[in-house]
Amino acid sequence: MDKMGELRRTNMCGELNKDHIGREVVLMGWVQKRRSLGGLIFADLRDVTGLIQIVFDADVNKEAFEKAENLRSEYVIAINGKVFERQSKNLEMATGEIEVYAEELKILDTAETPPIYIKDNDDVSEQMRLKFRYLDLRKPSMQKNLLMRSKTSKVIRDFLYDNGFNEIETPFLAKPTPEGARDYLVPSRISTGNFYALPQSPQIYKQLLMVSGMNRYFQIVRCFRDEDLRANRQPEFTQVDIEMSFVDAEDVMAINERLIQKIFKEVKNIDIKLPLRRMPYNEAMDKYGCDKPDLRFGYELKNITGVFKSSAFNAFKSVYENGGLIKCIKIDGASEDYSKKGISKLEKFVKSHGAKGLAWFKYENGEFDSPIAKFLGEGEINELMSLLDVKEKDIVFIVADNESAVNTALSALRTEIAKERNLIDNDVFELVWITEFPLFEYSEEEDRYVAKHHPFTSPVDEDIDKLESSPGEVRAKAYDIVINGDEIGGGSIRITNRELQNRMFKALGFTEEEALRKFGYLLEAFKYGVPPHGGIAYGLDRFMMLLTGADSIKDVIAFPKTQSASCLMTESPSQVSEKQLDELKITLNE
Ligand code: AMO
Ligand code: AMP
Repeated sequence: MDKMGELRRTNMCGELNKDHIGREVVLMGWVQKRRSLGGLIFADLRDVTGLIQIVFDADVNKEAFEKAENLRSEYVIAINGKVFERQSKNLEMATGEIEVYAEELKILDTAETPPIYIKDNDDVSEQMRLKFRYLDLRKPSMQKNLLMRSKTSKVIRDFLYDNGFNEIETPFLAKPTPEGARDYLVPSRISTGNFYALPQSPQIYKQLLMVSGMNRYFQIVRCFRDEDLRANRQPEFTQVDIEMSFVDAEDVMAINERLIQKIFKEVKNIDIKLPLRRMPYNEAMDKYGCDKPDLRFGYELKNITGVFKSSAFNAFKSVYENGGLIKCIKIDGASEDYSKKGISKLEKFVKSHGAKGLAWFKYENGEFDSPIAKFLGEGEINELMSLLDVKEKDIVFIVADNESAVNTALSALRTEIAKERNLIDNDVFELVWITEFPLFEYSEEEDRYVAKHHPFTSPVDEDIDKLESSPGEVRAKAYDIVINGDEIGGGSIRITNRELQNRMFKALGFTEEEALRKFGYLLEAFKYGVPPHGGIAYGLDRFMMLLTGADSIKDVIAFPKTQSASCLMTESPSQVSEKQLDELKITLNE
């Protein structure tokens, strides 16, 4: 006989309600806590659906009562009992109107005192949470997040199956796939000295599936990128990867909008209106200083460069003369909220984001107040006032520098100010497609153009002529879906022509030989009849962060890695045996 004996679970704790009053139930789970009250012992029993109060009463069953005296937190038990209406109801508990009087108790396992509390917001360090992740995952918020993630995956699968997509797996032991990050390498034992790369995305495989005629593909798939980890990045993360044949960008965006709408409806019961808003990349950079604007609040950036063409303020004039930008953010009616101290805090903030300074002015009691007022002529002040439509008690923050520095600093400042002013509401979702991305971006570090998305993204037809002459001006058939300032997904229509693909590789600085070595199999495939195709990939972890309202991407991943890409629970990465290294013919060069 196993530990549970005759007991077979009939119900889950959290699903019991007043309709079950009078019923006999068998429940199994963990003891959240136990309290003794004279002749009664109360235990909150927990399973993945929630908590329910169990009562052990010596008058109901003496043996169960005596066993219950030994119960401690996190013991695993099974009980058989009857559901009653509770005398003193606990309306904060989902099952707080009922309780179960136990007639039988089986202790299935005991537990030591756990090193972390099984409750939310207990201020325990992240280190402890990750080391004892299986305990951390017992917390209600973590269970809620993982269940919401599971539900979201199902909604996505159901939608895609209903729309003719086929779920197809692609290899993890792969050839390097260029998404711009460093590869995780896996040494081959059989083919000594050679390495697989874990895929940064299934990009090329999914394109080859289109060549093979699979028509509509999707996969919920792990991707691996050895990059510097930031708040919303993990070395391994999950993409919802999608590719479709015989489509243009409109088709891909249209079906994906419906998918996104469905996710919000099914998971959050939020109605998203279609079509989604769209914004060309240039407009996003101009108004928000970044290509993933948070549209839950205003504070658009205004370009005031022209005002300072012959300014006596040298810092601004030289920026003007060097072809830089002077942009600002106006906060309406808020001048009194910004003391000198508050402003100097913001100045520090923008400096930490690369700005050289933060100029500002206020308009209070009809007076123009600014540390740079003494450098500005009446003409400049009047022009600023009318250009920005400045009203009483407005305050304006200004940054001057090269284009990218100004945009980086002001885009960060915009969000910082919105945070300070409590304008960021996690229950509001602002979705936008960013379109007309540049195909390339210039990398100072590599001193060449690199692909803004990846090398398989198709240029806009009208711009193909500029591939060689002015690559910086070529727009891509690419689109990103941005929600609340986070890039949740991105994709494009792909190049499907061998000659164009070769021109693209050339523009990226690959020699013909290099292109053949790296992507020869793709170029080869392009000889044999390629349908027009395109697709998208969502970062499921980031999407879940948004849907759950979690502060960290780690809170929506069962077993995440730390900032230094390690797992504190299993202590990976770790050393391997001499034997394993020998088999791989690897010697460590310490
Ligand atoms: P991209 O590189 O933009 O596109 O990746 C798609 C989405 O994946 C998410 N993402 C990440 N999430 C967590 N941690 C990371 N380190 C990480 N890196 C990316 C982002 C991003 O929008 N093959 C193309 C897609 C395509 O063209 O179809 C690709 O991988 O949310
Ligand atoms: P300074 O004359 O250098 O003391 O600067 C006067 C004010 O202008 C200070 O508030 C600086 O922060 C600001 N300032 C200086 N350079 C810049 C710049 N490039 N962009 C924005 N503000 C600046």
